[in-house]
Amino acid sequence: MRVLGIETSCDETGIAIYDSDEGLLAHALHSQIGLHLEYGGVVPELASRDHVRKTVPLIQQVLQESDLQRSDIDGVAYTAGPGLIGALLVGASIGRSLAWTWGVPAVSVHHMEGHLLAPMLEDDVPEFPFIALLVSGGHTMLVQVDGVGRYTVLGDTVDDASGEAFDKTAKLLGLGYPGGPAIAQLAEQGNPTRFRFPRPMTNRPGLDFSFSGLKTFAVNTLADNGDDQQTKADIARAFEEAVVETMAIKCRRVLEQTGLTRLVLAGGVSANQRLRQRLTVLANERGVQLYYPRPEFCTDNGAMIAYAGCLRLEAGQTEPLAIQARARWSLEMLTPA
Ligand code: KG4
Ligand code: ZN
Repeated sequence: MRVLGIETSCDETGIAIYDSDEGLLAHALHSQIGLHLEYGGVVPELASRDHVRKTVPLIQQVLQESDLQRSDIDGVAYTAGPGLIGALLVGASIGRSLAWTWGVPAVSVHHMEGHLLAPMLEDDVPEFPFIALLVSGGHTMLVQVDGVGRYTVLGDTVDDASGEAFDKTAKLLGLGYPGGPAIAQLAEQGNPTRFRFPRPMTNRPGLDFSFSGLKTFAVNTLADNGDDQQTKADIARAFEEAVVETMAIKCRRVLEQTGLTRLVLAGGVSANQRLRQRLTVLANERGVQLYYPRPEFCTDNGAMIAYAGCLRLEAGQTEPLAIQARARWSLEMLTPA
């Protein structure tokens, strides 16, 4: 089965074609970073309008690149949430309409399920069950994954998501958007011992996260130490270290509690090199297998949506003609495929 995947939940238009026999045939991405840069964050209305401009041309591009005709597509998958509602509606409307015109089924995909399954696009595919650390701009979760659509959220953030904390702290340090890569880059020049940021919610039991305090800690550290370039780099380093160490502590805890031996890392923040290195050390210590996607499939992309949609279409799941996009949508509401 060949599936066209459409991702438009935030500031990236991602389009891909996944073939259940041959794997990923083509994928294309248009990032809106340049569009939102001067505002220091995503402007929802601008995002929606840009998806309107880019979605159809990118679909034409992936068809051309994979040497396929419209008639070669057996199904269409689109991200239906969670995300910016206007942006979601663009991809959902185009995806649903194309499926209707082409006479093929359409299926809606949960954006975080897409992230969670993205490591399956790599050669070394994790078997179920596994623990997923899902870290993105909007979510930070520890999920027990017993199969496709069989998700139990074991830990969640009580305030900011980890990517959001990176973005807000970057803004504070006068860095560009998105903040994650900018902080990671500046942190390279930082002194790891000058400041020590707290590891929130690690001194009590539980698997939840809290990241908003780190941003406040950064504000105070900046106010107390001046804002020269070296101080900013030292703050970036201490902030990154705190986020990474906090995640490592919670990952160790969830692996101990569940006894599971596979750990999957996914979502935009999983592109972070220091996080990957730290979790590799943890995995080696515990004899656990660690899986993560290539960097371009950590952040938003169409490939993960085409893949997740393909699994669901193969399982016989389809959507009616009515489009249902959701700004909020719990992973635990999904049905097994
Ligand atoms: O998954 P994603 O592309 O979009 C959402 O679903 O939110 O994640 C975007 C988030 C942003 O907050 C961005 O700053 C963060 O991922 N991010 C990173 C890195 N690359 C992207 N955070 C830390 N280190 C990175 N290298
Ligand atoms: Zn995402």
